[in-house]
Amino acid sequence: MTGSAGAPRTALCLVVGSPIRHSRSPLIHRLFAEQFDIALRYEKREVAPGTLAEAVVEYRRLGVRGINITVPLKEEACRIATGHTSRARVAGAANVLTLDEPERLEADNTDGVGLVRDLLNHAIDVKGLRVLLLGAGGAARGVLPALLAAGTATVTVANRTASRAEALVTAFAALGALEAAAPDTRFAQPFDVILNATAAGLVTANGPTFSRTALAETTAVYDLVYGHLETPFLAWARACGVERRVDGLGMLVEQAAVAFERWHGCKPVTAPVIACLRTRL
Ligand code: ATR
Repeated sequence: MTGSAGAPRTALCLVVGSPIRHSRSPLIHRLFAEQFDIALRYEKREVAPGTLAEAVVEYRRLGVRGINITVPLKEEACRIATGHTSRARVAGAANVLTLDEPERLEADNTDGVGLVRDLLNHAIDVKGLRVLLLGAGGAARGVLPALLAAGTATVTVANRTASRAEALVTAFAALGALEAAAPDTRFAQPFDVILNATAAGLVTANGPTFSRTALAETTAVYDLVYGHLETPFLAWARACGVERRVDGLGMLVEQAAVAFERWHGCKPVTAPVIACLRTRL
């Protein structure tokens, strides 16, 4: 993209949420932009719940092209949008807003596709597999449609509050084979894949808060959370002899890559970016 003088025009993109200080999105998008020599200004903005619509009016005036949305604004972002991708509509939450046409604000949800891509990065193809999804909050809701679209045999949703798991299963029943289960269910067969989409470490001093029968050494275990230290969930899986254990850092980069492609028309290579972030955790 060039300006009138032939110099590259700087694209302006943002990540918004509250708190936003620790967001790694600016680094990820800068590393993507370097792959294509795209001139990109990417900034963090603290936005309080309930004020996103007015903030977006100002961002449009500044020429912002795209906005990544993080907690607690994903549902609000979906509500204020004037257009939705089908995956944002189904999830009822958006992590990407695009402002590339006057008056139009398009909501997308790339979390689920980011998860599915990162599972594939680790040679975990969920097609035909039995998946246990722990949690029934916003994170679970965001990834569930993409898991079902990827061809899972079944997804079992287990949540501390049973009614939320049941509500999620009812909401998405048309999209694929889904069931709700209590976390302490004695499962007759271990799952192929277990995903932690709760906000908790899921392992207390007394052990995991879900049934050990869900797990075999061959189960692949994925925690949507990541951090400097191994997450309690993944540490517990390691103690159980599970070899395939993955945290959510790659999902963070993959969901960003989908947004980057939407905004700049170039598909970034994610592996070096994931590796770079890993060294900086
Ligand atoms: P998010 O957007 O991160 O998913 P959320 O919508 O508040 O946040 O959902 C948090 C999820 O983590 C829920 O599934 C919650 O279980 P409840 O529905 O029973 O509240 C789960 N969660 C949070 N703390 C938990 C804990 N200590 N043990 C088990 N599950 C927990």
